[in-house]
Amino acid sequence: MTGKTEEERREYAHRLAAEHMESGDPLGWFEPLYSAAERGEAVVPWAHLVANPYLVEWAGGRPGRGRRALVVGCGMGDDAEHLAGLGWAVTAFDVSPTAVEAARRRFPGSPVRYAAADLLAPPQEWRQAFDLVVEIYTVQVLRGELRERAIRAAGTLVAPGGTLLVVARAREDGEPLGRIARPLTRSEIDAFAAGGLRPVRVRDVYDDETPPVRRWVAEFARD
Ligand SMILES: C[S@@+](CC[C@H](N)C(=O)[O-])C[C@H]1O[C@@H](n2cnc3c(N)ncnc32)[C@H](O)[C@@H]1O
Repeated sequence: MTGKTEEERREYAHRLAAEHMESGDPLGWFEPLYSAAERGEAVVPWAHLVANPYLVEWAGGRPGRGRRALVVGCGMGDDAEHLAGLGWAVTAFDVSPTAVEAARRRFPGSPVRYAAADLLAPPQEWRQAFDLVVEIYTVQVLRGELRERAIRAAGTLVAPGGTLLVVARAREDGEPLGRIARPLTRSEIDAFAAGGLRPVRVRDVYDDETPPVRRWVAEFARD
């Protein structure tokens, strides 16, 4: 027992994020959050431990047949494992080494290559190396210049003939921002189509949550 209430464990992520933003270390809170969660002191708010339903929908009927997929900001590994189960040769990475270790521990014997890496400075050999790049909810937790760099970086990882799939919370310009998830505007989604990527389909969808949550489900391709 940690002695913390459920509410305190949930609030931990918000406090950590705010402290790191204020101190000018906007990427520095992910690792201590996952570490605190390992100790039972925090809840990782996005860790639902199931594959994202929009990824499941997109990937259904698209068997990997050994093609290379990269999962950005993979967290606890569920999206990566889903793709691996469909025959994709999956690499998955997160800036938090503790998250990567947790994913490896949850899926012993998994064929997924898990790595600790930063989307803002990815290994050179990943450049245009993946037939499918999956970016779900990473960009939306970044702000300002880091967000712009992350949007540009995601596309650089897509191989010729490959696809970038982006799922993110959506908002109109001027709509209020959340404390952790800062939804993307249409122009931010459109900005993924850079460096030789073209938009294939941008969907504006509402989840059947109460109240409904608006999201972008966007697909881009490199010819
Ligand atoms: C909101 S969570 C989403 C996790 C997962 N994609 C999901 O949908 O559940 C964002 C994840 O991105 C990771 N992350 C944040 N900045 C990153 C970066 N620059 N490079 C790689 N991973 C990053 C965080 O550690 C966290 O696991």
